[in-house]
Amino acid sequence: MATVVKKEKVKTLITRARIAKRIREMGKQIRKDFPKEPILLLGVLKGAVPFLADLARQIPGEVTFDFIAVSSYGKASHSSGQVKLNKDLDSSIEGKTVLVVEDILDTGLTLQYLLRILQQRKPKHLRIAVLLDKVERRIANVHADYVGFAIPNEFVVGFGLDFAERYRNLPHVGVLQLPCEG
Ligand code: PRP
Repeated sequence: MATVVKKEKVKTLITRARIAKRIREMGKQIRKDFPKEPILLLGVLKGAVPFLADLARQIPGEVTFDFIAVSSYGKASHSSGQVKLNKDLDSSIEGKTVLVVEDILDTGLTLQYLLRILQQRKPKHLRIAVLLDKVERRIANVHADYVGFAIPNEFVVGFGLDFAERYRNLPHVGVLQLPCEG
């Protein structure tokens, strides 16, 4: 039976404890894969901020940050696949070990665009870490090297993910349930 939601609600999907545990594992794995390299974490604003902050503290050794901002046209469907660069990185990534950090991999169009422009800048290694992977929605042929959780095709918020800029500060990931009309 369908649930009738009277007020906007968020139903917990992944608790903060599970997120913390998984990020600890991811941090260990990343350092194991690049034992001696300084790692540049490249956060994609804005959603990646909480994940990047937590992941960075779980990777031992030398880690630095930089940020990039992009937006996509026709966000509702992403069908146009047009992505625009709103803020570029502060420094060169040539010869560096770069880990792109994203909150969610959805259609993959954003990452496809980012990988194309980043690859041209000749990093030594270019890898991807995402907290959430909505596998069902993929349009572009992109996969992440490090995935926190594979999730179903639901509207998720929290831990960086927003609905009209709200909910980014939730310490867990939840499914947004909008009030039913009438
Ligand atoms: C979200 C997310 C990714 C992108 C993924 O960003 O942070 O960058 O969408 O979607 P895709 O795989 O379908 O391209 P959003 O544009 O919502 O910006 P935000 O991070 O500022 O919320």
